Amino acid sequence: MYDRTEGDVNVILKDIIRNRVSSNKFTSTKVETDHIIELLDYSVYAPNHKMREPWRFIILEGSGKANFLKNYLNEVKEEQKDDIKKNMEKVFQAPMVVTFVMPKNTDYADELEDLQAISAVIQNFLLLLEEQGYGSFWKTPKYIESDLFKEILGLNTNEIIAGLIMVGYVESKNQPKPRKKAKDITTIYS
Ligand SMILES: Cc1cc2nc3c(=O)[nH]c(=O)nc-3n(C[C@H](O)[C@H](O)[C@H](O)COP(=O)(O)O)c2cc1C
Repeated sequence: MYDRTEGDVNVILKDIIRNRVSSNKFTSTKVETDHIIELLDYSVYAPNHKMREPWRFIILEGSGKANFLKNYLNEVKEEQKDDIKKNMEKVFQAPMVVTFVMPKNTDYADELEDLQAISAVIQNFLLLLEEQGYGSFWKTPKYIESDLFKEILGLNTNEIIAGLIMVGYVESKNQPKPRKKAKDITTIYS
């Protein structure tokens, strides 16, 4: 948790941005759904063209997560079940998975803008999770594109998934990976 009373809010925001890392080892501590919904209510204050607000969320946790996995695995071939289960557990090991769903758009430029807008919401969400002491991981495994996955999750045929966000508490975090320096990749146009 970040203590706003100690120091300048700008420094804290910079710390939150730089300290957020992808985490993949979560404790079994339950994540409170109401708290996550509250954070989503802040996350949606992201830019979005024409106020299309191209997003909705599906939370999987507890029995909901178990039911989803059971329903999904019921529909796959017996001989594939183990491999698929193992693969999906890479994401579903987290106590909570928040799915970010967006509408498909027949206009390519609009769809790109919508993807950009929902991505801004996701980054807001990741930063709020960091501020509130949660670990997170943005995942886009291939199976999110499959009709079966979307159907079992309850998506409409005109919707796609922008990401699965693993959420939970972590015992230790990775160090932030170094990034290129902006001065090395910035051109001052003259
Ligand atoms: C749109 C998007 C999709 C991602 N999908 C995956 C994924 O499917 N699997 C994965 O291991 N990491 C995925 N990542 C996470 C990146 O690998 C990770 O953010 C990157 O290595 C930087 O590490 P950091 O998040 O710790 O700063 C994704 C990130 C983004 C932005």
